[in-house]
Amino acid sequence: QISDRVFKHKNYNFLVGHTTPDYIDSLDSFEIKDSDVFLVTYPKSGTVWAQQIIISIHELHGNQNEYSNNMERMPWLEYKKAEYTLLPSPRLFASHLPEHIMPPGVKEKKAKIVYLMRNPKDNMVSFYHFSKAMADLDTPESFDQFFEWYITGNILASSWFDHVREWYSNRDQYNILFLTYEEMILDLKASVKKICNFLGINLTEAAICQVVEKATFQNMKNDSKANFQHLPPERFSGKFLRKGQIGDWKNTLTVAQSERVDQVLREKLGDLPLSFIWE
Ligand code: PPS
Repeated sequence: QISDRVFKHKNYNFLVGHTTPDYIDSLDSFEIKDSDVFLVTYPKSGTVWAQQIIISIHELHGNQNEYSNNMERMPWLEYKKAEYTLLPSPRLFASHLPEHIMPPGVKEKKAKIVYLMRNPKDNMVSFYHFSKAMADLDTPESFDQFFEWYITGNILASSWFDHVREWYSNRDQYNILFLTYEEMILDLKASVKKICNFLGINLTEAAICQVVEKATFQNMKNDSKANFQHLPPERFSGKFLRKGQIGDWKNTLTVAQSERVDQVLREKLGDLPLSFIWE
């Protein structure tokens, strides 16, 4: 166990009280359907944003969303919140699982994966603020302390670098679309169209505009299905939709910390054709 709140299983750090080793092991035989859609991310990469988009696309395509919040319509695979075999098709799942723990059936079937990533400097700043606000997580004493947890992977969800590396280097084995948080910020409509194309869903231009509208930072802040305000204040005391920007890391990381991220990025991902937008 990493801390009172985080336990390691299959070389990945999970949240105590939210899942169990037995349940994670059972995912090895979790039955996949061709129509399943998975949104996979390292935490704080824009999961809830892409979740809103994927749900809206399906809703406008005729799948009603009668759920009280997005977590119910598109639950986290690793946190068993319902009998997943009973969910209507297409089943939509979110997940922070690393590639090596994903149910093997995803490879064999034609299930789709949207993998969303965010530059690690903004990602860690978002994760830092979330860790301070979320009672279930270890509370860092300072950003410097959190930075060490993040860089070494001694943290919920383990290392960002390993997560991205594993998924990206195994991409040929999956039906997978890679997207970045930054491209969504720079051109949300183009990103929505990319997701529609990948899902094989044809929406009218007006419907695409509706999806975009529902997914703006301001509208999501006011959308009770998407803004995480279903969590009681004693569990979550901050703003889930905090800043929603590229480049906020500049207000937090020191020059030395920023250079260290660059160095680890070169060491761990330097051989892969990946690049990130930092501002
Ligand atoms: S979690 O807890 O892992 O599910 O968090 P996740 O949803 O992956 O990431 C939260 C960050 O995404 C930002 N976000 C958005 N940015 C821009 N536009 C929209 N619509 C949007 N929705 C969520 C959210 O603000 C968090 O980033 P920070 O930098 O903390 O603001």
